[in-house]
Amino acid sequence: MDLEYFKEWVFKEFKIDLKAYKPNQLHRRILSLMSRVGVGTVEEYIELLKKDKDQRQKFLDFITINVSEFFRNPEIFNDLRNKIKTELLPKNKNLKIWSAACSIGAEPYSIAMILDEIAPTGRHSILATDIDNTILERAKRGCYADSEIKNVSNEQINKYFKKKEDFYEIDSKIKSMVTFKKQDLILDRYDTGFDLIVCRNVVIYFNADIKDKIYKKFSESLKKDGLLFVGATESIYNYKDFGFEKASTFIYRKI
Ligand SMILES: C[S@@+](CC[C@H](N)C(=O)[O-])C[C@H]1O[C@@H](n2cnc3c(N)ncnc32)[C@H](O)[C@@H]1O
Repeated sequence: MDLEYFKEWVFKEFKIDLKAYKPNQLHRRILSLMSRVGVGTVEEYIELLKKDKDQRQKFLDFITINVSEFFRNPEIFNDLRNKIKTELLPKNKNLKIWSAACSIGAEPYSIAMILDEIAPTGRHSILATDIDNTILERAKRGCYADSEIKNVSNEQINKYFKKKEDFYEIDSKIKSMVTFKKQDLILDRYDTGFDLIVCRNVVIYFNADIKDKIYKKFSESLKKDGLLFVGATESIYNYKDFGFEKASTFIYRKI
């Protein structure tokens, strides 16, 4: 099975660098996807992807894994809320925040809700980026199923969501606090001057070299004393190498 050839084809066709992903996990996922659509070889799979638009989208969805929810790991989000309140806001009334690999928008909208609750008068900017255009369109629409808002309190649901027939739509005020943009964490340049970068549940798919490059670039993109918030399985053991100190279990402070 020539997966290296497949990776090169994917890069030419989709501009996605699969070499940056952890190989074992990625290969397992590609093989399982191929068997699901009933093709036996990489060559056949490429032919299918060339001509079938639906399969192309399925492949991209499968590779990009965009499961997300509001306040994912609520107890850790509470920790973030405290850090925003006690560390970031006393130094700066208007925060510049980046939710990197934001998927359906649940993450940047969770942060916008926190800011509306604890610092409603600030002129905050929240940039939310992802590699996947389709998911960004969904994020902009801001419509969510029950399961995606299960960690949102009733009080917040009443304040920040409109109940529609079988989904909940996020309030336009919260929507307007977030700017969505397509961006690839591996290939594209990063903006700078952030008080907070939130990047959760994406670097777990990348190899160690790419992960290190991303953390170095995050560090360069943060202001001094800015915070990096990572996922619940993504502790950074070599954080000192990137000029960070530990602010709490899943939050790092740029020195
Ligand atoms: C599991 S979701 C994480 C969503 C959210 N951060 C959370 O923790 O709930 C992973 C997201 O990473 C995005 N992604 C994958 N590779 C990426 C890359 N190279 N650059 C930017 N985003 C990427 C996917 O499209 C997907 O939406």
